[in-house]
Amino acid sequence: MKIIRLLPVIIISSLLIACTVKEKSVLNQKQMDFIEKQFENTLAIARDYTQNPRTIKEDGSLKTVGIYNWTSGFFPGNLWYMYKLTGDEIYKNGAVKWTEVLDTIQYWSGNHDVGFMMYCSYGNGMKFAGLDYKDILVQTAESLSKRYSDKTLAIKSWDYRKAWDGKTEWFYPVIIDNMMNLELLFEASILSGNNKYRDIAVQHAETTMKNHYRDDYSCYHVVDYDTITGAVLDKATCQGFTDESAWARGQAWGLYGYVLCYRYTKDKKFLDFAENIAEYILHHKNLPEDLVPYWDYNVADESFVPEWQYNPADYPEIPRDASAAAITCSALYELAGYSANKEELLSAADKIQEALLSPAYMAYNGKNKYFILDHSVGSIPHGVEIDVPLVYADYYLLESIYRKQQIKKEEKF
Ligand code: GLY
Repeated sequence: MKIIRLLPVIIISSLLIACTVKEKSVLNQKQMDFIEKQFENTLAIARDYTQNPRTIKEDGSLKTVGIYNWTSGFFPGNLWYMYKLTGDEIYKNGAVKWTEVLDTIQYWSGNHDVGFMMYCSYGNGMKFAGLDYKDILVQTAESLSKRYSDKTLAIKSWDYRKAWDGKTEWFYPVIIDNMMNLELLFEASILSGNNKYRDIAVQHAETTMKNHYRDDYSCYHVVDYDTITGAVLDKATCQGFTDESAWARGQAWGLYGYVLCYRYTKDKKFLDFAENIAEYILHHKNLPEDLVPYWDYNVADESFVPEWQYNPADYPEIPRDASAAAITCSALYELAGYSANKEELLSAADKIQEALLSPAYMAYNGKNKYFILDHSVGSIPHGVEIDVPLVYADYYLLESIYRKQQIKKEEKF
């Protein structure tokens, strides 16, 4: 009887919630329907939570990777964002399962990528569903901090390995991507009250400013250090066009990384640095009109000659990297909130997002049934994942949509 009397209230409240979600959405109905359809397709076939959707194979089928792959946190992260954007429990249920299967990573110190893996999954679960993942995140930060050295003043990205040429040795390679792992360290200090993680993050960011960046605020992909003296031994690329070029995703990782350093420290030097990187990206002579970069900013410059086998004839159109654009877009929405240059940064972020949400990048053609965006690049020098969907492009696009929505509502991220 009670339930029957409450029924109208329940129905009206549900309608109001649904309307509020739609009203505040930055997506139109066609975009939202398409995005939901892609997730529906993926969730219908991806039943093994230890296998994480990453891209598609040539025949259009879903390609997955295991939990130790650097991209294992993005699919749960995407589900968390979908939950936040739609309020639909289907996404939350999937997010919890794909997140919690990563549990053992908290004890893993095999490389630097645990920030991506654990913060996009557990971090968002804590933020968006209030789940108690504190101990797991702090333990992950502890594992990551084992890769920090007082000699190099940086976190080692990869263990000893040969460079892409198979000859040059890297003893303590640090890649620009590593800036993204600092979010986990900053959060772990807040959660645990132990400043050790934050101190490592700040020092790593300062060392990277000094050794990865050039005078024009573009950056090297890899810097290798002497493990005893901390001296820089090599500055190079792994996934970019040449050692001296500006690999597009690397520039985006760096921008995002320094914005988050400012978020946690309020140290103006990080804000200035992020603004300078944004300036480099947004005013680059080779940045296309729609602000979605080619996979490397210098790929069309004759003065940059790669040492690897590169045949321009193989690429009648230079591939864009939608993932770099999505990361940049999300970072710019945050940077706009701190910068005196707010309007320009917001309008650039809007322009990138509008391009990504257009048929030029959204996978409306049906070839890709599982991801939102097409046209990203994994690594052209390695000949892998060229002009394909990538789970992390979708992650940063969804994050940028969430961020824009929060800005519209005048609420924090
Ligand atoms: N972190 C690896 C990449 O950006 O490809």
